[in-house]
Parts: sequence; C-alpha cells; structure tokens
Amino acid sequence: MGEMIQTQRLTYTYPGSPAGDPVLNRIDLTVEKGSFVAILGHNGSGKSTLAKQFNAVLLPTDGKVYVDRIDTVDEGRLFDIRQRVGMVFQNPDNQIVATIVEEDVAFAPENLNLPREETAARVEYALRTVDMWEYREHQAHQLSGGQKQRVAIAGIIAMKPRCIVLDEPTAMLDPVGRRETLAAVMRLNREEGITVIMITHYMNEAVEADRVIVMDRGRIAMDGPPRAVFARAGELERLGLEAPQPAALIHRLRRRFPQLPADVLTEAEAVEALSALLAEVGR
Ligand SMILES: Nc1ncnc2c1ncn2[C@@H]1O[C@H](COP(=O)(O)OP(=O)(O)OP(=O)(O)O)[C@@H](O)[C@H]1O
Ligand SMILES: [Mg+2]
Repeated sequence: MGEMIQTQRLTYTYPGSPAGDPVLNRIDLTVEKGSFVAILGHNGSGKSTLAKQFNAVLLPTDGKVYVDRIDTVDEGRLFDIRQRVGMVFQNPDNQIVATIVEEDVAFAPENLNLPREETAARVEYALRTVDMWEYREHQAHQLSGGQKQRVAIAGIIAMKPRCIVLDEPTAMLDPVGRRETLAAVMRLNREEGITVIMITHYMNEAVEADRVIVMDRGRIAMDGPPRAVFARAGELERLGLEAPQPAALIHRLRRRFPQLPADVLTEAEAVEALSALLAEVGR
C-alpha cells in the first residue's frame, strides 16, 4: 500500500508562543494509503494543528512531514501536496464559494485549466459520490447543513485528491446531517479508496474508522483499532473522553458484573452481552 502521510519527530510551536511548550511534540505517525483514521482528543490537544501539517498549511518547527513521500517544506512541490491532500472544515457556509451547487463544485477544477468536458465529468462524479447530483442546479445557500457539507466535500473530490482531511466536518450539523456526511465520507474511503483522516468529537463516528488516534497535549496518547482503543475506558476518561455509549455502558456494568466482555463496541454487541448476562443471572 505505502504511506500517504508520514511524520518524523514532528514538533510545532506557533510563532510568538514559548518554544518550551510545543503544540505538537515529537510526533511519529504513519498513515497508510487507503486507510480511514479518526483523530480524537480534548479541546486544545493539537488535532487541528496536526491536520494543517498534512497539506502544508503549517510547516514543522522541527522534524519532518512527508505527503506521499514529498517533504512539505519543499516549496516547489506545494501544488503537488495540495492536489494530493484536500481539507474540509467545520463550517459548511465558509466553504461554499458559488451560488449554484454545480458551479461551486466546478470552482477548483476550473482553476486547474482542465478541458471543459473533464471539469464537467469531475463535477458529476463528485456530486454523485456524495449523493447530491439531483441538487446540482439548486441554490447552495438554501441547502441544509448536511447537504452543504456534502457539497463542500464534492468540491474537494473534484480535485481528485488521494487523501482527504476533515476537521470536525459534522460539528455544526444536526443528527441527520451528521449521518449523511459520515456516510459520504465512508463511501469515499471504501468505494473510492481515498485515504481519510477525520477529526471528530463524536465517538460513534470514530467507531467506523480502521484506526483511532487519541491526542493529548501535543502527543499521541493512544493509537489502535477502535475496538482496542475504546476498551481502555479508564484511560480515555483521564484524557477527557468517553467511549461510545454501548462500550461506556458495559464498562460501568463490569464493575458489578466482571464477567461481561471488555471489548464491546456496538449496540448489537451490548445487547448480546446483556442478554447473556441476564440468562446467566436468571439461572
Ligand atoms: N494561531 C494560533 N496561535 C497560537 N496558538 C494557537 C493557534 N491556534 C491554536 N493554538 C493553540 O494550540 C493548541 C492546540 O490547538 P488546536 O486548535 O490544534 O487544538 P484542537 O485539538 O484542534 O482543539 P479543538 O478541539 O478545540 O478544535 C491550543 O493550546 C491553542 O490555543
Ligand atoms: Mg480543532
């Protein structure tokens, strides 16, 4: 597969901040091509600062960041880096640039001076991928939050990036918008093979990832498959996070019923574990 992003002892201090207290502190991280990584961590742990290193919006104070093997300090390759890694942010309103949906999605590829048919093909592909094709002639500002966010994602997809980094893409959305956006992101990863790095505060979204990274004070505190990370409920709590609801519930019950399994992740698994417990206790 190969690595999409690699950091080596990545350290970052914002200009004017004291150098002794870096926001990112010697981070070694490799993100494999085609993977879906969720990044968690309490407020101020450095998640957004890390994400901005992945398409050279910020450059390391010390250490290295490679995007598809390109060193992000290589100014001559900035365009190549930005073409490989697209960014989606929290507020969909700030990401819409044109009045009509299809014009919005066409905006970035048009700036690449592609042939007109190629731009049109990319716009259609991108809007279909996020399930917004039938809205192509709609006014962008009249869409719901979840629809706007999917249009913003389509705008990135139209650039044909290999990797997409999303910084709390669902934070401003209602539950329906959150579900729609997550579904679009998962499809990008599973059907289109695009590497996804998604920062989120929602544990149920992180459950869908292949890998969960928990940040704490500029370092990686936990890193592993969701099942393994969310089984470490005590540690998560100390880092200011809670496991997804089914896992948290079973974790609390395990104090009384230690025979419950430690690695419950989904609702279905919690139901199964509780049924087994009831059958046993009722005997
Ligand atoms: N432009 C900036 N200048 C100086 N310090 C900054 C700047 N942006 C962020 N910081 C500081 O860097 C640290 C990490 O911030 P960052 O935004 O990366 O955290 P985060 O994990 O994304 O938090 P949140 O969950 O609130 O989005 C915080 O202490 C923050 O105050
Ligand atoms: Mg942030």
